[in-house]
Amino acid sequence: MPGFKLAIDGPAGSGKSTISSLIAKKMGWTHIDTGAMYRAVTLQAIEHGIDLNDEHAYSFLETSNIHYDNNKIYIDDRDVTEDIRSEAVTKNVSLVSSFPYVRKKLVDLQKKAAEKGYIVMDGRDIGTVVLPHADLKIFLTANVEERAKRRLKENLKKGKHAEIEHVIKDIATRDEKDSTRKESPLRMADDAIILDTTHLTIDEVVSKIIDLTDKKENKHGV
Ligand code: DC
Repeated sequence: MPGFKLAIDGPAGSGKSTISSLIAKKMGWTHIDTGAMYRAVTLQAIEHGIDLNDEHAYSFLETSNIHYDNNKIYIDDRDVTEDIRSEAVTKNVSLVSSFPYVRKKLVDLQKKAAEKGYIVMDGRDIGTVVLPHADLKIFLTANVEERAKRRLKENLKKGKHAEIEHVIKDIATRDEKDSTRKESPLRMADDAIILDTTHLTIDEVVSKIIDLTDKKENKHGV
């Protein structure tokens, strides 16, 4: 079956979603932002008023329909693309994504969504768990100061102000939680290519990954 699975992993603020979305646009591929899916579960949990520490309370996932489509994230038919970026969601998403039950539900959805066609999927465990047989795995990094600066810029565009020290602390805390959790921690796949984006522009990163993709496609004869 023709297709290509491109897995992009990396820590918070490494530019995964922006870069994946641009690659998908340039190549005419489908982009799936798995972080947005964990955020949507977190938003739903907060809105349902459940005890966020109680893994059993997430059983609402049996009937909810979370899906990522064309750069937007939906819970059932409701577009929650903006709502999932709230501070409450950002603060709690590491906790929510640490539960094996939640991960199993979302990983199943993600595997299904990537079954057919040309896919760019970004997250923390794509190359290791969701798409272990991906055609190309990229692990993006950047130092924490640079990642905080990017987050700050993004927030400013939305009219949100924050202190750089506060953002650095928030990102470092999330890195720590995401890398040390028991279930599918943030880890580079053994066969991933590491790309340090600290001193690269978004366009440079996008071009590099597209070059690597072309090389792989030619090798596979797709
Ligand atoms: O990429 P992001 O910052 O929007 O992701 C939000 C959170 O979701 C992040 O703190 C860790 C979690 N996450 C995860 O555990 N596994 C993924 N594949 C994607 C995100």
